[in-house]
Amino acid sequence: MSVKIAVGAQWGDEGKGKIIDLLGAQADFIVRYQGGANAGHTVKIKDRKFVLHMIPSGVLNDNVISAIGNGVVFDYDSFIQELNTLKEGGIDPDGKLFISPYAHVVMPYHKEIDKARESARTTKIGTTFKGIGPAYQDKICRCGFRVIDILDKEFFAEKLKENIEEKNFIFERLYGESEKFNYDDILSDCFSKFEIIAKYVKDVSILLDEAIEHNKNILFEGAQGTLLDIDHGTFPYVTSSSTISGGVCIGAGINPTKITEILGVMKAYTTRVGNGPFVTELHDEVGKFLAEKGGEVGATTGRPRRCGYFDSLIAKYAVRINGISSIALTKLDVLGSLDKIKVCTAYNYNGKILHDFIPVARVLENSEPVYQEFDGWSEDISNIKNYEDLPENAKRYIEYIENVTKVPVSIVSVGPERSQSIFKD
Ligand code: IMP
Repeated sequence: MSVKIAVGAQWGDEGKGKIIDLLGAQADFIVRYQGGANAGHTVKIKDRKFVLHMIPSGVLNDNVISAIGNGVVFDYDSFIQELNTLKEGGIDPDGKLFISPYAHVVMPYHKEIDKARESARTTKIGTTFKGIGPAYQDKICRCGFRVIDILDKEFFAEKLKENIEEKNFIFERLYGESEKFNYDDILSDCFSKFEIIAKYVKDVSILLDEAIEHNKNILFEGAQGTLLDIDHGTFPYVTSSSTISGGVCIGAGINPTKITEILGVMKAYTTRVGNGPFVTELHDEVGKFLAEKGGEVGATTGRPRRCGYFDSLIAKYAVRINGISSIALTKLDVLGSLDKIKVCTAYNYNGKILHDFIPVARVLENSEPVYQEFDGWSEDISNIKNYEDLPENAKRYIEYIENVTKVPVSIVSVGPERSQSIFKD
């Protein structure tokens, strides 16, 4: 029995989709616990590329049961669209895909509020416009709908009235558009779509408890990354959920004593989509090189990702906050052919040297990276299967990361395919 969490150690897009797909071979259950359709996991299987936003990428493994926990904000349109794409691609998730009845639902008005609020903000966060913040806001202020509420037609029809009135009032007063949301349209849209969804609804906490009882292997699939966490990220440039490993207990209804392993997924360099501080960001040829060679384009929004050198302060922070017990280091191949590779070892904050990451945007915005330089390697490593066969300089780079984080690297990913993975030790 194992209960493993794969958590993003940077700002998301660390390549979790591939790692989860890889580990999925040993998993019986793959579960999402936070976020919504803002996530974008790209998995390449042979010639086919699947991009999943709502459905856990475990669904691509035949023998895996996938579940969406209560901590996720459930986007029913994305879910149905992905169901259809999977079915067209010959993958039928019926009977092996479940949604918690207690997951909050992203309503059509959440997406509109997300857009309106973002465009009205002076300091833009760069949200994905998937309604994430407004949906979590309604959860916290206790007026949101859970999956189970929409399945109860009478209850939903009554409560929706209040919600629509409130949202229309906000829209009219704040954004100058009257009667923006139509009660009847939203009601019938939800009723018809939840007819399709009803058969996937199951108590995920009970499902997992029974799985643990039967010694099954469970893998939790984190979305976004540590620095986008609502509490521990670079606030306010964060998403609205608990992306860190601790989010699993809340977002899936399992207790912390059941967790056996926490895998931190770290890119060999750093990227970020959206706004916010990024100390090692590169605006030079190396930044362009990483973006191009790494194909650094957001899976959900298609926006180019900002690129920079590996930041060991972030890595150490992610280890501390998540309790990472081993690291999956991804996209190491992308660094190949760089003559020199830098890693950030400290920040110079207005003349003061910082060795620990501080999640305060204005401190980070005024920090300069202090770098250590490594020699690069020129060989193409994308087909290497054994750790020993990696160029010495690549091994030196990996060992630096192990030393600075005090955590072993267990997987080195050298390409998007399942087969392009080196299991160290
Ligand atoms: P939201 O989650 O749409 O509210 O966006 C908040 C911030 O999180 C923005 O900077 C987004 O670009 C970022 N973000 C949200 N989801 C992801 C993701 O899956 N990968 C990387 N960044 C993300």
